[in-house]
Amino acid sequence: MAYDLTVIGTGPGGYVCAIRAAQLGMKVAVVEKRATHGGTCLNVGCIPSKALLQASERFEEAGHMFAKMGIKVSAPELDLPAMMAFKEEGINGNVKGIDFLFKKNKIDVFSGVGVIEGAGKVKVTSDKGEAQTIETKNIVIASGSDVARLKGIEIDEKRVVSSTGALTLEKVPGHLIVVGGGVIGLELGSVWKRLGAKVTVVEFLDRLIPGMDGEVAKQFQKTLGKQGFEFKLSSKVTGVDTSGKTLKVQVEPAAGGAAETLEADVVLVAIGRVPYTEGLGLETAGVEKDERGRVKVDGHYKTNVDGIYAIGDVIVGPMLAHKAEDEAIAVAEILAGQAGHVNYDVIPSVIYTFPEVASVGKTEEELKEAGVAYNSGKFPFMANARAKVNNTTEGFVKVLADAKTDRVLGVHIIGPEAGEMIHEAAVLMEFGGSSEDLARTCHAHPTRSEAVKEAALAVEKRAIHM
Ligand code: FAD
Ligand code: NAI
Repeated sequence: MAYDLTVIGTGPGGYVCAIRAAQLGMKVAVVEKRATHGGTCLNVGCIPSKALLQASERFEEAGHMFAKMGIKVSAPELDLPAMMAFKEEGINGNVKGIDFLFKKNKIDVFSGVGVIEGAGKVKVTSDKGEAQTIETKNIVIASGSDVARLKGIEIDEKRVVSSTGALTLEKVPGHLIVVGGGVIGLELGSVWKRLGAKVTVVEFLDRLIPGMDGEVAKQFQKTLGKQGFEFKLSSKVTGVDTSGKTLKVQVEPAAGGAAETLEADVVLVAIGRVPYTEGLGLETAGVEKDERGRVKVDGHYKTNVDGIYAIGDVIVGPMLAHKAEDEAIAVAEILAGQAGHVNYDVIPSVIYTFPEVASVGKTEEELKEAGVAYNSGKFPFMANARAKVNNTTEGFVKVLADAKTDRVLGVHIIGPEAGEMIHEAAVLMEFGGSSEDLARTCHAHPTRSEAVKEAALAVEKRAIHM
């Protein structure tokens, strides 16, 4: 059987691309080497981490907030196997959803490792060693990314773990050392902190979350510090001695200097992710990669080889599931002769800690560096009625608007539910809206979203509740 399109990898990039292409009338095959579809995101990433963040947040709430609200319960007890089962149930439900969607859209599934033998040919080898070759008009590579390793430190996924092992620990570590103060370190650090671990984050830079608006990052670090996170900034881990019962972790100043040894039960290595192209046959097919090992594509996701395209974590850009999904739709539409397009200026990003941190568009630092004159409006949740009555007043909303045109260039929120609230800013920015548009949009009372309207009003120094 010859296909119009064969997609390698069924993560958020691959499975969405397959569905959109099928909707557009293409005959589509997908190739996946993992036992279940959904890729990193669904199996060992976004979904399991959010299940544990949800469960651990409720655990903490039951211990600290219920009594304050007049709900008397005995001190919550952790049943970690049950919490892990809750996580698995969430994964399985979503995995079944993708299986259903593949059937519904008449997409053929090939299980095994896909190797590109050249334009129009993908060889699939199953885990039993059986091989078959798919003939296909086009190929989309959606092979995702893998954990970045730290030289000299071996990940055993038991005591020295990547995010994958940190999602399946069998008991709460007494002391968890997180290498890397990025998104994974702070989300999974939050999970284990809430469940009782002491958490120390060792970060190479002098701040958390590089790329995040500086003012937000400062507030975020302060808030996490209050929760009990310990930070060793401008520091690096140079070795982990696993020979004893406790791990001995060598920590050095990033700039060099005297090392100290910290003891830990578990070390989580979370220093970023790297594109995954191993065994894809890119060299044989003549597909070029860039200096960072990413598949090189043009503005239409086409590689240097006709008929071969790539999307998601394996190409340039933020390693986010929704970025992969939007590229998936765009490339399917391009293959169908339509004008598929992704607006990279409006890709929201969310950190699902408590409080959440969400942003879309430019940071103040980026605007300054680009020499763009801007006005800033800021509104604290402390002055928001709903936040006050819910007793969750940490954080603020910041709206950055072009000084000349008032067009909104960036919105940054730190506070509970920030990840849901950011989307009104994304829609506004997609339509090229101004802070005046946002300020004149009626927002329901009492909602946390009123803080977004107030921040927009604050751009012209006319916030009402401040
Ligand atoms: P992947 O999801 O990595 O899928 C690639 C698939 O290709 C895999 O299933 C792999 O087995 C398969 N594959 C690779 N090579 C072959 C081959 N040769 N043959 C057959 N199959 C192959 N992003 C967010 O937006 N929000 C979050 O909350 C979030 N949380 C995360 C939490 C963690 C702990 C991690 C690790 C990541 C998180 N991410 C999150 C990032 C997100 O998971 C990725 O951006 C997303 O999965 C990328 O999608 P993708 O389709 O490009 O690749
Ligand atoms: P990251 O890039 O977010 O953070 C890595 C951190 O490690 C950085 O702060 C970096 O300065 C630091 N670092 C690098 N080398 C170091 C070293 N040797 N010692 C100490 N610190 C070092 O990477 P992370 O957290 O591993 O996540 C990978 C990607 O997964 C993210 O970039 C993101 O795209 C995605 N992700 C997204 C989530 C979300 O959207 N909520 C959640 C989790 C992951």
